[in-house]
Amino acid sequence: MRDKLLKLLDDPSTEYVSGQEISTKLGISRTAVWKHIEELRKNGYQLEAVPRKGYKLTHTPNVASADEVKSRLNTTTIGKDIIFKKELPSTQKLAHDMARNEAEEGTVIVADQQLEGKGRLGRSWHSPAGTGLWFSIILRPDVPPHHAPQLTLLTAVAAAEGIESATGVKAEIKWPNDILFKGKKIAGILTEMQSDPDKVQAVIVGIGMNVNQEKHQFPSELSDKATSLAIEAGRTFHRADVIAAILERYEYLYFYYLKEGFEGVRKRWEALAVTIGKNITARTVAKTFTGRAKGITDDGVLMLETASGRIEYIYSADIE
Ligand code: BTN
Repeated sequence: MRDKLLKLLDDPSTEYVSGQEISTKLGISRTAVWKHIEELRKNGYQLEAVPRKGYKLTHTPNVASADEVKSRLNTTTIGKDIIFKKELPSTQKLAHDMARNEAEEGTVIVADQQLEGKGRLGRSWHSPAGTGLWFSIILRPDVPPHHAPQLTLLTAVAAAEGIESATGVKAEIKWPNDILFKGKKIAGILTEMQSDPDKVQAVIVGIGMNVNQEKHQFPSELSDKATSLAIEAGRTFHRADVIAAILERYEYLYFYYLKEGFEGVRKRWEALAVTIGKNITARTVAKTFTGRAKGITDDGVLMLETASGRIEYIYSADIE
């Protein structure tokens, strides 16, 4: 209900919206309207209330709360349910618990801050309050488990395209899952799966994105490697605008992928990827390979051609 109320209050064609109008349009009592307005105030919104005119929204907090995101979102599945928490150990962990408890496909879990944010390869993910986007999406695709890595690549495309549509920043993808701008990391993706031997139960896609951090807000070990959308664009963004754009791209690409297969996603991915055609070093847990990145397979695996002409298939690695 509150996302609908926010849409009404945010309508640029009217300055004030009367309590009566809200009550009629949303089909709720005047008392219920008043309670929702009070709830908004508690959540950091500022509203002017003028007798005989109504309410005017004067300040919206820059937060990717369920209300803010939903009031911008036009999707049927991805983001139909949004759980927002001010603080969590990790959105990934809550998403796993919810997926085991039958959460519906498309459920999105967002945290303003993560205390134990998880990165790839057992690393931690710096997730401070008030600046970035830390969220996980629960998917239940009807695909065999070995196709799950394709969703990492699909996620990278949705993130890069969503970023561009919301901010104008033309991000690039580094295999498999880094979103970069001029070589510095803007976002990372962690794809995890709950699966039977032959059937995927759930795929949990975690996205961490640096949105409004200023340079000095990155810890020293990240300052050379990471950047934010605000640093690159020279202005800050409402985090709900950014996540809504990504979720909309996500829904479009995901439905396309389920219907038509991976090929179209692979083409988009290759168009956005900086890795393909370059000489790279791939450090896997077991071994380091050097050679030329030839492309990706249908399963999203990176093909690397070594100096001897041999093709190595890289499933998971750090790329330089
Ligand atoms: C990487 O190492 O590049 C992947 C980082 C993924 C971070 C995101 S933030 C939201 C979700 N919750 C987590 O704990 N991790 C992922």
